Amino acid sequence: MTPPPILRRLDDLRASTRAWHRAEDTICVVPTMGALHDGHLSLVQAAKAACDRVIVTIFVNPRQFNNPEDLANYPRTEEEDARKLARFGIDALYVPEPDQIYPDGFATTVSVAGLTDVMDGIHRPGHFDGVATVCTKLFTQTTATDAFFGEKDFQQLQVVRRLARDLDLQIEIHGCPTIRDIDGLALSSRNLLLSDRARALAPRLYEEMEAIAEGLAAGRPFGELQRAAIDRLEKTGFTRVEYLDLRAADDLHLLDAPTRPARLFAAAWLAGVRLIDNIAV
Ligand code: PAF
Repeated sequence: MTPPPILRRLDDLRASTRAWHRAEDTICVVPTMGALHDGHLSLVQAAKAACDRVIVTIFVNPRQFNNPEDLANYPRTEEEDARKLARFGIDALYVPEPDQIYPDGFATTVSVAGLTDVMDGIHRPGHFDGVATVCTKLFTQTTATDAFFGEKDFQQLQVVRRLARDLDLQIEIHGCPTIRDIDGLALSSRNLLLSDRARALAPRLYEEMEAIAEGLAAGRPFGELQRAAIDRLEKTGFTRVEYLDLRAADDLHLLDAPTRPARLFAAAWLAGVRLIDNIAV
């Protein structure tokens, strides 16, 4: 149960990664914004199984927040996070100071077209530019051979896969299944912001998505299932369903039936907290 070494400066990170590369070790990175839950820990476990060395990063990336209040409220629990990681025996916890990621005069944005023109790309303007830019920085800083992301943020996963391919980054991107609470709610750091009452209602989003998946399997038209689910969610107390879409899993194009590998994607607000989820259908 040794807490991981915490590195806050790129030079210190490089001193470690250089030695690991000399030893021809593979290096996995698990990028996070902290407030670690079992979903993150499942990524760490997958990384431990895949690579000789594992780096977990914690950086609450200001450039991916389109709303200053959301950034200010984002949970920050570094000490507890380090404690949760102790049992995994990771090789470094990289918690860069902000100037290690965005030094003075930083002027570059990585922007992925197409995949970001829908869903969170519309509802959170600039979000994916922030994600793509910070992931590119974290990949190049850690010189990782493999990176692990949760399918909970499926659009993000596809955006990161695209940028790694387009920029010829020599890194393999792994997507890992969403981890859910016993009542079905997808684990997310933002769940910490839900009141007890909202937390009790939150699993309804997943229940409605499962109901749509069942309806599709029974051959019912998606539009009808979608309208009924949105109506029920609004009656339950969800204030705004931003999207409840059926989309192709690879290019995220809208579908009206699951005629090729498809997923249902949802984003909805509950008591001031934005929840997102997706499932394969
Ligand atoms: O999914 C997240 O926690 C963040 O978007 C990520 C990938 C760590 C980039 O800041």
